[in-house]
Amino acid sequence: MLIAGNVALITGGASGLGEATARHLHAQGATVVIFDRDEDRGHEIMRQVGERATFVGGSVLSEDDTNQAIEVATSLGAYRILVACAGGATGGGRTIDRNGAPHSLEVFSDTINLNVVGTFNSLRLSAAAMSAQEPANDDGERGVVVATASIAGFEGQIGQIAYGSAKAAIIGMTLIAARDLSAVGIRVNTIAPGTMGTRAWDKAPASLRENLEAKVPFPKRFGHPEEFAELAAHLITNRYINAQVVRIDGAIRFDPK
Ligand SMILES: NC(=O)c1ccc[n+]([C@@H]2O[C@H](COP(=O)([O-])OP(=O)(O)OC[C@H]3O[C@@H](n4cnc5c(N)ncnc54)[C@H](O)[C@@H]3O)[C@@H](O)[C@H]2O)c1
Repeated sequence: MLIAGNVALITGGASGLGEATARHLHAQGATVVIFDRDEDRGHEIMRQVGERATFVGGSVLSEDDTNQAIEVATSLGAYRILVACAGGATGGGRTIDRNGAPHSLEVFSDTINLNVVGTFNSLRLSAAAMSAQEPANDDGERGVVVATASIAGFEGQIGQIAYGSAKAAIIGMTLIAARDLSAVGIRVNTIAPGTMGTRAWDKAPASLRENLEAKVPFPKRFGHPEEFAELAAHLITNRYINAQVVRIDGAIRFDPK
């Protein structure tokens, strides 16, 4: 799928991996729609990116908000690219804590909702819109989706039961969605990042960050958001990669804790 000349919708596009992806796809010639619940930052990023960038405020958990973002995307040209970055951990905890108290069901549900339901919502509504268009190329390709999981979906640490389960569901969704959407020529791939240097780490203690950084075999640092964006761009343009979950992690494998 070509990037230049097509419309890309980036959920969570006002910060971190989504912001870097919006900037990168825009630099490659895409028209970008940044969809994020953070209105202030979203407008600011839109202004910085400039022409061919639009911001839509709202939540991936809302059908109306997501449809509105997709309507904007389709009004701007051929809506072919979804990069679903909105997500994250809404809280942590063990299945039962040291005193035997069970994990908060609310935190677990919220994390599943944000990551799994939010990703699926933007995927299903985007796929419906993309499927209504004519194919873009001689493979019959109509669109491409890049979702965002985490290596915690493979090797979640103690205390990550909610986040790890949510990201594992996105990993599991990838093949099924790619199979479902093969009939309409939409590819679905997922990126599973390790530790990437974004605002998501702002609230984490410096010691945790240093500890994790030291555990990355090579290069010994957090990933740059731009490195995620470059991988997303490759998954968009390489037509033969489908139903793939790609780790980007400097070879780190999370320890149990
Ligand atoms: N940073 C990392 O180390 C890392 C590692 C693995 C996976 N990830 C995943 O990458 C994705 C992006 O993370 P990031 O580090 O860029 O975080 P970030 O906090 O910098 O950006 C996330 C963005 O998503 C937006 N968002 C949150 N909930 C939303 C909602 N309901 N609707 C619309 N927008 C919403 C936020 O406003 C924010 O702008 C997340 O899914 C996260 O789980 C990040």
